[in-house]
Amino acid sequence: MDNIVRIFDTTLRDGEQSPGASMNVDEKMTIARQLARLGVDIIEAGFAFSSPGDFEAVRRIAHEVEGPTICSLARAKTEDIDSAWQALKGAPKPRIHTFISTSDIHLKYQFKLSREEALKRAVDMVTHAKGYVDDVEFSPMDASRTEQEYLWEVLEAVIAAGATTVNIPDTVGYALPRSFGELIKGIVDNVPNIGGAIISVHCHNDLGLAVANSLAAIENGARQVECTVNGIGERAGNASVEEIVMILKTRRDLLGLDTNVNTEQIYPSSRLLSGITGMTVQANKAIVGDNAFAHESGIHQDGLLKEKSTYEIMTPESVGLSKSTLVLGKHSGRHAFKERLSELGFDLDDEELNKAFVRFKSLADKKKEVFDEDIEAIVQEEVMRTDYDEKFKLVNVNVKCGTSVPPEAEVGIELDGTLVTETFNGDGPVDAVFKAVCSITGTKSKLLRYSVNAITEGTDALGEVTVRLQEGERIVLGQGSHTDIILASAKAYINALNRLEFKMKESRGELI
Ligand code: KIV
Ligand code: ZN
Repeated sequence: MDNIVRIFDTTLRDGEQSPGASMNVDEKMTIARQLARLGVDIIEAGFAFSSPGDFEAVRRIAHEVEGPTICSLARAKTEDIDSAWQALKGAPKPRIHTFISTSDIHLKYQFKLSREEALKRAVDMVTHAKGYVDDVEFSPMDASRTEQEYLWEVLEAVIAAGATTVNIPDTVGYALPRSFGELIKGIVDNVPNIGGAIISVHCHNDLGLAVANSLAAIENGARQVECTVNGIGERAGNASVEEIVMILKTRRDLLGLDTNVNTEQIYPSSRLLSGITGMTVQANKAIVGDNAFAHESGIHQDGLLKEKSTYEIMTPESVGLSKSTLVLGKHSGRHAFKERLSELGFDLDDEELNKAFVRFKSLADKKKEVFDEDIEAIVQEEVMRTDYDEKFKLVNVNVKCGTSVPPEAEVGIELDGTLVTETFNGDGPVDAVFKAVCSITGTKSKLLRYSVNAITEGTDALGEVTVRLQEGERIVLGQGSHTDIILASAKAYINALNRLEFKMKESRGELI
């Protein structure tokens, strides 16, 4: 058994299944490029058959992102595997990942299949995928609740059919570390041809054990871990890539295992993902939370000043966390701006660069010091969030508020080319603005969340507003940033409404 643990990143597939985390194709491309910089071994780029948008994301990532193997998920169905192959074919390192449930509970109630039928389907579909590509992964879904002898039989049969990776999912996050480790050991000891495949694990975090279970599996022979940046994913999420990688690195003394990850890209990857999805990381989250390297107590600070290792088991620099650096000011030119963008991982074309530069200049006029975080916010707003046709364009916002006047907002929105202006009162200026936006756009959506975050320090900081809207089954996030938080709020609301519009068009098949 080798000592490399392969990192299979599923941020763009399972991660995207987090409510509100959906990304468009350009956003997925940006994340995929960053994952390549991070050094993950495999990127699960999506589920090609599930939608035209997913197909396109898998196709573009497979053909344009260099380095990692690119994988598409496919149910154990011919049409899914064919679609995965259509998206992947011609790419340098393609993988098809096919799955079917094997637990009695899933087979009986959800799929209405016998064990024999599921086994046959698994083998047939691995064989079908193998007709297209050498690198085939198979997952017996809900493996941790599958009867062990049957699981071994399925694994032996799919490896004989050509599966090169067998992934053991704890689909509902039910396993405990000791029993999950034993499950993997049982596979190593009882599946005769297990040496012909890599054992992978895919753990969900419903009981907060995704990372612990993955680690127990690694200690018992798993050599691929499926994980996501910031641990996002279905329900409570997946094992987080940053935790898995830093555990292996920090406790190499005990575990003796390595990954191919460039750990200094961990923090930039985390920030990029939260900027794009609007899913912020809790402050006390291990490795990438705001407090992960903040030492508050006097005794700890004293120890640190004397010798870092007294209270620091890994350095902030090792995960790519450096203090906010002042990068640019109002005299900085296009060239310096472009350089900094590419250091931050953004490759913009000329038109995108122009848009971002205009916004940067206007920010630098208002705010003397422009930080990396400001630049990221600008790019996300001016470039990344605008690939859909913007049905609604915010033209102007004027508010009156204070101790002696009722809050009032006049909002102008261009709606399919026509400017509509309305004035509303509200409980506060943001409420008044939102009422005007709702009335002009006629939206039926419900506001689920509104939050404001200062991107950097100081009263001239950019305020970043995130809103979460729901209409029917669809949940979207919108974001807007500005030094004026009322304007940032209006922009965030309009951004969310445009995304909702985009999703509706996408589901009606009007986009591709
Ligand atoms: O959680 C799960 O079982 C999955 C499979 C598709 C691998 O996501
Ligand atoms: Zn999953």
